[in-house]
Amino acid sequence: MFRFEGLRVAVLGAGKIGSMLALGFRGCGASVVATARRPERVEELRAMGLEATTDNVSAVKRASIIVVSVKPYQYPMLAHQIGNHVAGKAVVSVMAGVPLRLLRATLPGAEVYRAMPNINAAVKKSVTGIVAPKDAAFKDLVFSLFRCVGSVYEISEQLIDAWTAVAGSGPALIAELIDALILGALAVGIPRHVAYDAILETLVGTAEYLRSRPEHPAALRDEVTTPGGTTIRALKALEARGMKAAIIDAVEKATNRAKRLAREIEEELLEETG
Ligand SMILES: NC(=O)c1ccc[n+]([C@@H]2O[C@H](COP(=O)([O-])OP(=O)(O)OC[C@H]3O[C@@H](n4cnc5c(N)ncnc54)[C@H](OP(=O)(O)O)[C@@H]3O)[C@@H](O)[C@H]2O)c1
Repeated sequence: MFRFEGLRVAVLGAGKIGSMLALGFRGCGASVVATARRPERVEELRAMGLEATTDNVSAVKRASIIVVSVKPYQYPMLAHQIGNHVAGKAVVSVMAGVPLRLLRATLPGAEVYRAMPNINAAVKKSVTGIVAPKDAAFKDLVFSLFRCVGSVYEISEQLIDAWTAVAGSGPALIAELIDALILGALAVGIPRHVAYDAILETLVGTAEYLRSRPEHPAALRDEVTTPGGTTIRALKALEARGMKAAIIDAVEKATNRAKRLAREIEEELLEETG
């Protein structure tokens, strides 16, 4: 278990995801400074109990790990400000679509990572994919830091767009599934608030049960599905509508969209950064 006391982390661009990360890192004992562009946002960050400033350069100078969580189009201006102050430090970009080669070219001397967390960082349940450089000096520290907001998986850069689709869009897909189950429960007469609680509990319970056993999810389905029973009727209805094909298709489409966006972002940023 890492001890983060004394570790100084700067989160540059503490918006929706950056502020969740900053709060999570601080919860592990790291000393965190968060930055934003507008003074109003800095005040909001302070109201959350975070140290906050608009001064990216001073934040970077005092930190050994720097997390970049601005929007991709905001990155060239930020890189221009901090590029000369990052040598010997770790920089972790959580920006979708900005490739390592562009980050390295604009952050000379830094050890550069890409990370893709998800919104569940708010409750320390992000599943974060991290692309680490070879022979990285800060790797254990960076991975441990992101474990403060959930679980961490090392991935290759090739897989980051797929990760964005599965882990990034995953909470939205699961929220849709929960919504559909609530509508189903309403259709058969269960009041909305009871249905919502019961479905969330079923989701959490099913995930915990699956995690407690080595078998594939299909084995659980088979245990619940008795001959001529109710579950097989429900499964047949889903099969008839092609639910699995629709979900596979959704993941492929989200991945292709992430890839296309990444190409567009890279082209734009290459033009701006020369
Ligand atoms: N949201 C997610 O669930 C999620 C998940 C994974 C990855 N990401 C990635 O995280 C990044 C941020 O997404 P977001 O949804 O958190 O966006 P967001 O809420 O708009 O946050 C961006 C923040 O960056 C600040 N900023 C912009 N330029 C700055 C500068 N030069 N110096 C300091 N701060 C600056 C903005 O400050 P002001 O508020 O003062 O303008 C804003 O607070 C994106 O690249 C996205 O791809 C997001």
